[in-house]
Amino acid sequence: MKVLVIGSGGREHALVYGLAKSAKVDKLYAWPGNPGIKELAETVDGKVDDLEAILRFVEEKDIDFTVIGPEVPLCLGLADLLEEHGHKVFGPLKKAAHLEGSKAFAKDFMQRHHIPTAAYKEVNNYEDALLALKDFTYPLVIKADGLAAGKGVVICEDEKTALDSLKAMMLEKKLEDAGDKVVIEEFLKGFECSLLCFVDGEAIVPMVSVKDHKQIYDNNEGPNTGGMGSVSPNPFLHGMDDILSEEVLKPFLKGLKEDNIDYRGVIFIGLMIDENKPKVLEFNVRFGDPETQSVIMRLDSDLLDIMEAVSEKRLKEADIRWKDETAMCLVLTAQGYPGKYRKGDIIEGLEKLDDDIVVFHAGTALKDGKLLTNGGRVLNLCTLGKDLETCRQKLYANAEKVNFVGKYYRKDIGLH
Ligand code: AMP
Ligand code: GLY
Repeated sequence: MKVLVIGSGGREHALVYGLAKSAKVDKLYAWPGNPGIKELAETVDGKVDDLEAILRFVEEKDIDFTVIGPEVPLCLGLADLLEEHGHKVFGPLKKAAHLEGSKAFAKDFMQRHHIPTAAYKEVNNYEDALLALKDFTYPLVIKADGLAAGKGVVICEDEKTALDSLKAMMLEKKLEDAGDKVVIEEFLKGFECSLLCFVDGEAIVPMVSVKDHKQIYDNNEGPNTGGMGSVSPNPFLHGMDDILSEEVLKPFLKGLKEDNIDYRGVIFIGLMIDENKPKVLEFNVRFGDPETQSVIMRLDSDLLDIMEAVSEKRLKEADIRWKDETAMCLVLTAQGYPGKYRKGDIIEGLEKLDDDIVVFHAGTALKDGKLLTNGGRVLNLCTLGKDLETCRQKLYANAEKVNFVGKYYRKDIGLH
């Protein structure tokens, strides 16, 4: 089969790596991919939000199956467009993708279907937002309704921060249309975890547990990033399977059915867990990055088979097996990330890495035969091992062998 993967990050490199192992895949394409993906797939220059161009490419190349990585094309309706033209795809339709595209829609969905979540108010203008603030105590959380590339959530310790954030979003339109509507919600305490599941509307099947590390510095300090590393299984999540299934997954699936939402793809549920009680922070309608890198390392069945089963509503029959090992992903970032970061530095040393290290590229570019940094998160070093300590030792020894100016990584992945 000819398979196309949309996207260009470490997550998409991991998906391409997984798909390349499938006996059914004859040819892989990536739109636009990255220099690492180029070693496994033919990469095509193009924008992930240029839906018509993607459709033309799928028709020209006679692509059999398209896997959509990022949320932007999903929320714009790429899956709808491809399916309307008779093409198979992995990734939810636009209406379903709205669970990530609109925080207010997601909160309303959770409230109506009794999925535990923080108490909230949805507001459509600044004056109403000021009134709504009076119903909460500090800290509280302000969330722009629309997609904001990770910049739409502010934890407000005091009224001044809340007012500044609301002003920036609703009056100064710092996040453009994404901040026209805002969700104000109660601050939740506990520990965070990500739950990735395959879902086809008839069944929902959790993948192996995985932990992301959001903050830039060790001990979970500093500003949030897209994710600095991941480990699977999640060392902090024990004995929660039944609770998560009963309190979150079952009502989620029932809600999809009751609302007639045709959801086929991955749902990535962000949770806060306090004293064994889960509450949903957010839905993402795609694989997590860098959660996917660790999860794919542990997959022991054919990824394309699973994705086809999801797309054709046969998830119940799918053969989904996992390696009984630990996987870890360490993200190497550029100097300055998650703020303004350096770009264009030469990356060296990849050829010195041990054989059992898998490198997924995230923000790299090839120029005149040289590999350069080209994003905040530059490279993902991944490995499998018998336990977390083995993975940590292997990855940290190898991280020293890769060099670029300003290279940074957290030293405590898996520990906090
Ligand atoms: P979200 O995009 O909604 O997951 O929010 C981004 C991050 O903000 C989450 O990963 C949490 O760290 C934090 N966050 C979001 N909502 C809350 C909440 N109600 N209470 C505490 N932290 C939150
Ligand atoms: N690692 C968090 C995300 O992919 O949104």
